[in-house]
Amino acid sequence: MRLAFVPFLAVAVALQPAFCTPSSVLKPRTRTNSLLISPAALPALPSAQQAASASADAGLNLTNIQGDILIGMKKNKELFFFFTIINSTLFRSQLGSGILPLITPTSQLLAVDTQPTTAVNLAFSQRGLTTLDITDDLGDTAFANGQIDNVASILGDETSNWESAFAGTSIHGVFLLASDTVDNVNATLSQIQALLNGSITEAYSLQGQARPADQQGHEHFGFMDGISNPAVTGFSTPLPGQQVIDPGLFLLGETGDTVTRPAWAKDGSFLAFRQLQQRVPEFNKFLVDNALSNPNLTADQNAELLGARMMGRWKSGAPVDLTPTVDDPVLAADPQRNNNFNYSHPGFDLDTDQTHCPFSAHLRKTNPRAGLTPENTANHIIRAGIPYGPEVTDAENASNVSSTDPSLERGLAFVAYQSDINAGFAFLQQFWANNAGYGVDPIIGTDGLGQPDVPRSPSGLDPADPTRIITIEQDFVVSRGGEYFFSPSLSAIQNTLAI
Ligand code: HEM
Ligand SMILES: *[C@@H]1O[C@H](CO)[C@@H](O)[C@H](O)[C@H]1NC(C)=O
Ligand SMILES: *[C@@H]1O[C@H](CO)[C@@H](O)[C@H](O)[C@H]1NC(C)=O
Ligand SMILES: *[C@@H]1O[C@H](CO)[C@@H](O)[C@H](O)[C@H]1NC(C)=O
Ligand SMILES: *[C@@H]1O[C@H](CO)[C@@H](O)[C@H](O)[C@H]1NC(C)=O
Ligand SMILES: *[C@@H]1O[C@H](CO)[C@@H](O)[C@H](O)[C@H]1NC(C)=O
Ligand SMILES: *[C@@H]1O[C@H](CO)[C@@H](O)[C@H](O)[C@H]1NC(C)=O
Ligand SMILES: *[C@@H]1O[C@H](CO)[C@@H](O)[C@H](O)[C@H]1NC(C)=O
Ligand SMILES: *[C@@H]1O[C@H](CO)[C@@H](O)[C@H](O)[C@H]1NC(C)=O
Repeated sequence: MRLAFVPFLAVAVALQPAFCTPSSVLKPRTRTNSLLISPAALPALPSAQQAASASADAGLNLTNIQGDILIGMKKNKELFFFFTIINSTLFRSQLGSGILPLITPTSQLLAVDTQPTTAVNLAFSQRGLTTLDITDDLGDTAFANGQIDNVASILGDETSNWESAFAGTSIHGVFLLASDTVDNVNATLSQIQALLNGSITEAYSLQGQARPADQQGHEHFGFMDGISNPAVTGFSTPLPGQQVIDPGLFLLGETGDTVTRPAWAKDGSFLAFRQLQQRVPEFNKFLVDNALSNPNLTADQNAELLGARMMGRWKSGAPVDLTPTVDDPVLAADPQRNNNFNYSHPGFDLDTDQTHCPFSAHLRKTNPRAGLTPENTANHIIRAGIPYGPEVTDAENASNVSSTDPSLERGLAFVAYQSDINAGFAFLQQFWANNAGYGVDPIIGTDGLGQPDVPRSPSGLDPADPTRIITIEQDFVVSRGGEYFFSPSLSAIQNTLAI
């Protein structure tokens, strides 16, 4: 009898999403199209089979790790719903039977037919954990103190630009709801609010969406984003040039995480959220007004070249290190080649050569690759953000000025995952992007003192004269604030957070 049941059970398990409880009458329909985008330039996710075999070798449990952590910048629509817990007992009692079945683990995102209608992830601020009476020290001071702590001196933010919700004390957690349509996202949010039965209120929300048509996968300045995330041992197979990083840099308690943590925190990750406004018309005007002077290029191409050198990639995604003067869309669309560079070139001195890529380029600032010996393995993040806000309007484009209408604000809903915020996001912003050595990062750098529009003076942007300083009078990226969160494993939600 028992043997006869085995095949039936095996089939049933394979067809069901994880955590089928009686409440999975809410079981999502089977998807026929992905909730993720897949522009050619971005590394493909491992197949479910590849990931199962790699994770088994590394001892990672992909059904225990929330799905957003390892997949990178691939969401089509994503709502960040920040909430306040107003009845913690009720919230905790609804978490296990009500919410947990909706939480999407990594394993469910790797094949279209296992994806839910809307992928749901959930993360808590320190204030949120405290509200739930979870008093264990997770071993991360940045998380424990919250992002607003010393934010001017650490990250360089001017806090008067912060959204009041981020500056206040009401954000206890965030739901990340990802799908291919906003309708789906809205429906899932309603479902969650009903399940939580009034135990939370909205503190703030931000709707992200991939940009339209041929801009899909590009951030608002126009550059393809999400190409150079690290490969993670136990999850992804490295592409040529892709650094391979221990899972413990992103997941607590895994190989490479040396901090002592409570056992239940294993397989969780710290989520650094930032709402980064982008002043797109101002950026475009700057490129036109400061276009480079390569005689072989048109004025438009010289403006594009300046932008590419500030970023380190062309808008297509092609790395300027490999194609310094002209864009190469074929190279850009080839993941076997578009990350295979390290700023080192035979016959050129790595310590002085900026003919290929400026030292100050955003890409090189945030990951110097061969510029550090041995290549850095300590300061890595997985970027998983998404653009927010509408396209530039004709009026803004014509005036060269971003509208002050809040409904026209656009930018990047920046998300970085790491197991140590002060070695991950905060390190990259404070010690590399804001570092005046070679000039601060022309995209995201600030003076590090919390002042707006302090002139920045990167050198190296002009290949004809690398000593020439092109002064940037204005910030093109303005921090509107953010918070640090902990994205717990599914078992932590079940056994520690829920009651
Ligand atoms: C609105 C703000 C930002 C914009 C428009 C932006 C844009 C980009 C673009 C277009 C790329 C190249 C695509 C790729 O290689 O994936 C990139 C790469 C990267 N960015 Fe940003 N970014 C922003 C904020 C940040 C912040 C705040 C950080 C961290 C403090 C950061 C860290 C990185 C890193 C680590 C890389 C990959 C570098 C490499 O591995 O070669 N970015 N960014
Ligand atoms: C993997 O995680 C899931 C979800 O928490 C859990 O049910 C399962 O027992 C775990 N598997 C192993 C082998 O630990
Ligand atoms: C919290 O919810 C529980 C369960 O519904 C209820 O008994 C209790 O009165 C609520 N507490 C407050 C402060 O509203
Ligand atoms: C989704 O919900 C938001 C907030 O309630 C609303 O503004 C928006 O119109 C809704 N979108 C759709 C497509 O239903
Ligand atoms: C909470 O649940 C009860 C019982 O199902 C229901 O009557 C009530 O309307 C719910 N309240 C909220 C705010 O969802
Ligand atoms: C312009 O093209 C000519 C002919 O190919 C080449 O010799 C020269 O180096 C180019 N100039 C620049 C600045 O790239
Ligand atoms: C940089 O990449 C080249 C080409 O792949 C390789 O030969 C070289 O060893 C790398 N340099 C460093 C310092 O990693
Ligand atoms: C912005 O305006 C310029 C002319 O001022 C035009 O060439 C360009 O196409 C416009 N860009 C967009 C995105 O509308
Ligand atoms: C916008 O900037 C461009 C480039 O500097 C300039 O040609 C144009 O006159 C500006 N438009 C306005 C309305 O200032």
